[in-house]
Amino acid sequence: MEPGAMGGTLGGSFAWASTDGPIEVLLGEHRTILQVLDEVERESRRVEAEQALREAFWADLLRFLDEFDAGLHHAKEERLLFPALEAHGLAADHGPTASLRDEHLRSRFWQQRIDAALRERDRNRLAAAAGNLVDLTRAHVLKENQILFPLVKRLLDPDELDRLHREFRLLAADQRLRTWIRFPYPGTAGAEAGAAGA
Ligand SMILES: [Fe+2]
Ligand SMILES: [Fe+2]
Repeated sequence: MEPGAMGGTLGGSFAWASTDGPIEVLLGEHRTILQVLDEVERESRRVEAEQALREAFWADLLRFLDEFDAGLHHAKEERLLFPALEAHGLAADHGPTASLRDEHLRSRFWQQRIDAALRERDRNRLAAAAGNLVDLTRAHVLKENQILFPLVKRLLDPDELDRLHREFRLLAADQRLRTWIRFPYPGTAGAEAGAAGA
């Protein structure tokens, strides 16, 4: 692609993507995550109402949490964004980035509980773990949007934000490559879901 091909209306310095910068990228990912959480909440209500367990939905959720939430989004924050802030004096072992890292770990815990409940076909535990994941992640996203991102814009200068944006793109490309290696035939999960619903 020609440099600047996607950013013509924004000027030459925005050659990387149609979004404005790294924070806008993360905000967009947060919107996707919140939409998925809405679906999880709806599906949990169905589970609680003793309707049939739609295993394909939960399998897709677990894959989304692995590939998108942890593999892409948390990776951008933990490997690139948080260290950039810590280079400006934020303590790595306490303070906002430490508590956000801890919440990522806790979301991993609830993901594992969902996985275990699904394997045991335990609806009560599944709904409880999903509810905890939804509550934790919504609060986490709100904290990042309202506290962390304004801090990023205050601490990082435009060159650092540009560099972070480029690093995000490289990380996303690496993540796509890994996903293609692990899942070389896209749509398999969707096909299973379609077959189950047919
Ligand atoms: Fe986060
Ligand atoms: Fe986030």
